[in-house]
This record gives sequence, structure tokens and C-alpha cells, in this order.
Amino acid sequence: MPVRKVAVIVGSLRKESFNRKMAKVLLGLAPSSLKLEIVEIGDLPLYNQDLDDENRPPEIWQKFRTQIKGYEGVLFVTPEYNRSIPGVLKNAIDVGSRPYGKSVWEGKPAAVVSVSPGAIGGFGANHHLRQCMVFLNMPAMQQPEAYIANAAKVFKDDGSLAQDETRKFLEKFMKSFAEWVELHCEEIRPGHS
Ligand code: FNR
Repeated sequence: MPVRKVAVIVGSLRKESFNRKMAKVLLGLAPSSLKLEIVEIGDLPLYNQDLDDENRPPEIWQKFRTQIKGYEGVLFVTPEYNRSIPGVLKNAIDVGSRPYGKSVWEGKPAAVVSVSPGAIGGFGANHHLRQCMVFLNMPAMQQPEAYIANAAKVFKDDGSLAQDETRKFLEKFMKSFAEWVELHCEEIRPGHS
């Protein structure tokens, strides 16, 4: 199986973010057919369409767009803010989606992991993100779903997982995601490796 490059986008900028801890755990649990890299979104200026329309996009938007184009899949790891996705994540999605007709998300297979200290594991954010992916034409993995609740109990102090059960579930999730990415890479670019 060829190695597929996947961008990992974390929807939190917090130093001690549970979601960043999760992203790092997933980097370690991914099968060898996936090469995961965290792509940072915290410095992207807020999206303003004028800057694209007037052909003067900030360099950092352009860098981000070029970076994302180089990946064959996207894994979102996000908290829930007010039952939706954090603004920083929505901004990154918006920046990547424009100028019109040049979205860097187009066709890229994706999956979502939401992590929350609350009891419902960021369900609202997870599904709002899926709504964006419909418009962006990103095939989103349906199963398994990953709503990671009670985050304070999920990690040890060093950021590793506290329970074997969680690790097994996440390994299964990443295996399914690797198959999902492969399926869509083959569909979109048959024979491409
Ligand atoms: C939150 N939090 C939160 N949690 C949740 O489960 N559902 C929610 O709707 C919200 N809303 C919300 C809004 C805002 C503005 C903040 C700052 C926080 C709590 C949130 O899950 C918690 O801060 C997490 O720790 C954030 O994820 P990271 O930063 O640990 O990855």
C-alpha cells in the first residue's frame, strides 16, 4: 500500500489542549500506510474576501493553501465551542475554501475526532464540521464515529492514553480511516501512488 499524506488540523490553540494531546496520540497510532502531520492554523488572519477579490491574499493564507494541497487526506481533531466548531477552525476552513472554484479541500477524504471534557464528546461540533464537508465536497468517513467525552480522564499527565480500551478504539478508527483515504485516493486518482 502506498503511503498517504494526511494533514491533521487541531481546532484548539490552548497550550494544554486535550485535542492537541489527542492529535499527538493519533500520530502514534496511525497505521504505516498513513503519514500524519499537524498543520498549524493559529496564525491565519481572519478571512476577508476582498483580499482574494483584489488579488492581494496574505502570504500566510497562500502558504496554508499550498500546504493543504500537498496532502491526500485531512483529519480534524476539534473541541466543541457553543455546540459548534471553534472560530479558529472555521476560519482555516474558509481560508482554504477560496478563491471560489479553487478550494484546496475539494475531494479530500476526511475524518473527525471531537474531544470534550463534557459528557457528549463534542457531538455538536463533530456534526457541524460534517455539514461544512458536504459543501466542500470532502468525503467524510461515517463509521466509526469518534466522540471522545470526559477528556480529563482520557489522558495521563504525560499526554498518553489512560485506558487500553480507548487505545483499541482509536486504533480501529485510524485503521478505518487509512482504508477510507486509500479508497478515495484510488477513486479520484486511479493508479496514483
Ligand atoms: C467551551 N467548552 C464547551 N464544551 C462542550 O462540550 N460543548 C460546548 O459547547 C462548549 N462550549 C465552549 C465554548 C467556549 C468559548 C470555550 C472556551 C469552551 C469547553 C471546552 O470543551 C473545553 O474548554 C475544552 O478543554 C476545549 O478543548 P481543548 O482546548 O482542551 O482541546
